[in-house]
Amino acid sequence: MGNRFTERFGVSHPIVQAGMSWASSNVALPAAVSNAGGLGVLAAGPMFVDDFREALRGLKSETSAPFAVNVPLYRPQADEILDIVLEENAPILIASQGGPGKYLKRIQSASVKCIHVVASERHAKKAMEAGVDGLIVVGAEAGGHPPPAQVSTFVLVRAVALAAPDVPLIAGGGIVDGAGIVAALALGADAVQLGTRYLATRESRVHEAYKQAVLHAGVEDTTLVGKAFGPIRMLKNTFSERYLEAEAAGADQEVLLSIFKESSLKLAALDGDPDNGKPEAGQSAGLIKDLPSAEELTGRLIDEYSLALARLSELSVSLKGGL
Ligand SMILES: Cc1cc2nc3c(=O)[nH]c(=O)nc-3n(C[C@H](O)[C@H](O)[C@H](O)COP(=O)(O)O)c2cc1C
Repeated sequence: MGNRFTERFGVSHPIVQAGMSWASSNVALPAAVSNAGGLGVLAAGPMFVDDFREALRGLKSETSAPFAVNVPLYRPQADEILDIVLEENAPILIASQGGPGKYLKRIQSASVKCIHVVASERHAKKAMEAGVDGLIVVGAEAGGHPPPAQVSTFVLVRAVALAAPDVPLIAGGGIVDGAGIVAALALGADAVQLGTRYLATRESRVHEAYKQAVLHAGVEDTTLVGKAFGPIRMLKNTFSERYLEAEAAGADQEVLLSIFKESSLKLAALDGDPDNGKPEAGQSAGLIKDLPSAEELTGRLIDEYSLALARLSELSVSLKGGL
């Protein structure tokens, strides 16, 4: 499965475990994925600065394979976190929710590779021109922060593959298995990023009740809250029902914001209340039926990838034979 993604970032498989606040804000999940030949990602999002440094050191001691650190640029301590990324020589930075101008030259001049998360063709082109080493393109199916314009992974990945061809492209949103990987690569991606799928593994740091809620969800069981402030895709629950009822009733922004702020991802992930919290998850939750270890899952993805390719090559033989 080697290509320009695996070559540039030094990983065996073109599989990235998405940076997920709480779920991958630990050592165990990214270490297991990197040790299995994928790219494990430590999510700095909700971490205190000192805890982040400690986790980064722990991750370095648990794996000799490449790993990445995800830093949402909007967080107030983003600069401090970036300093630690440099001091601790993390090999790869994945920056999200902000422009590359803020950090790119400083980080790249220390030989840290920079992957930038984008959710539109325009931002992809700008990031490519700024000189990022890779692009993560996330479509509407995704858990967490899908694109505000709600363009699906199928369309957005294709659009960015055409608009920004000179940089490795990592597709995310809705991918859980080998069939999804083959589909993304066929659209022009060089690698894939899986979030919700890796959230439902033994090593992910979210509460067991949250994992069970993901396992019990169907493909129609997620929704978007906070459209006015940057949409979040989460499992439907008591909180989302209340929020969406207020939105449908025409509540003004201030009221919506105050309901929005009453709940959090932390309430679901750490405190174990997926019904009143914001359990972020993608539509792909409906395709997830088990809680494997991250190593088992990564190995399975590779096997499924080969099976999906074999199916396509059989199809191509039958097409040539006139079906
Ligand atoms: C629980 C959860 C937390 C997330 N936290 C972050 C984050 O801190 N930073 C970020 O860039 N993206 C975050 N995301 C988005 C993921 O990185 C990824 O783009 C998304 O999960 C891909 O879609 P999928 O869930 O369908 O695989 C989060 C997603 C989930 C499900």
